[in-house]
Amino acid sequence: MRKLLEKELCVVTGAGNGIGRAIAERFISEGADLIVATRNVEAAKKIYEGNSQVVDILEVDATDVKDLEKITESVKRTGRKLKAVIPVVGNGPQNPIQEITPEEFHLTMNLNVFSAFFTVQKLIPFMSNKSSIVLISSIAGFQGGKNAIVYNAAKAAVRSMARSFTGELAEKGIRANAISPGPTETQAFTDFVGGDEERRNNIVSQLPIGHIGKPSEIAAVALFLASDESSYVTGAEIIADGGFTNR
Ligand SMILES: NC(=O)c1ccc[n+]([C@@H]2O[C@H](COP(=O)([O-])OP(=O)(O)OC[C@H]3O[C@@H](n4cnc5c(N)ncnc54)[C@H](O)[C@@H]3O)[C@@H](O)[C@H]2O)c1
Repeated sequence: MRKLLEKELCVVTGAGNGIGRAIAERFISEGADLIVATRNVEAAKKIYEGNSQVVDILEVDATDVKDLEKITESVKRTGRKLKAVIPVVGNGPQNPIQEITPEEFHLTMNLNVFSAFFTVQKLIPFMSNKSSIVLISSIAGFQGGKNAIVYNAAKAAVRSMARSFTGELAEKGIRANAISPGPTETQAFTDFVGGDEERRNNIVSQLPIGHIGKPSEIAAVALFLASDESSYVTGAEIIADGGFTNR
């Protein structure tokens, strides 16, 4: 069967764990060549070192523009054009409104909004005229919810950026879309649940689909949006939340 990203060069950030790792592994299985970037480079090396489809494993703090230039340099060295850019990095502390510090506010915006924007901005000149940006928002981006006001606002900004990239980059042949995952089984989700089985079961009971999402289920959506299978889809957002928001 034809592979969807055969010999296509793609960039995935946050690829050392969770959803980013699942996206990177799925893209590799679909024939892509990858530049992976993450803060926990040792974990990434254990996963990707020796894989002939992994062009570079970069230690990058996605909140630091200088670090993001390591990705640009890596792409330049290949002399190739990019098929897809997937900035996956994101997270945020859980805090009540009155306890949020300016430092936490900036960190959350940097991790989610700044990192996605500048990853894309730096790589636009290297994207092909038939390429795709896939941003990772969250259902938090269109819901309220306690103890996450800055993360919720940051993810709303990420959704918004996908729509703004769309019109401005269309003439370059670049499509832009967002995925809004619901609860997904990753380290970040485990930390969020904090070992509280009752909390976990309560979340599962609110998921019409009956299970917490697997990172591979988000990766399948990213593959669709990154590949030509979605050639008529741009400025869109796919909610992959097991029905949580429409329960
Ligand atoms: N897990 C969920 O339930 C869920 C739901 C909705 C949206 N999301 C979003 O999906 C994305 C991935 O989340 P996850 O749950 O897989 O997270 P995770 O914490 O399991 O993995 C995040 C990865 O990003 C890396 N990373 C963290 N900060 C970084 C930085 N500053 N620079 C470079 N790399 C960094 C980590 O080392 C790790 O490899 C995030 O944007 C998150 O907001 C997750």
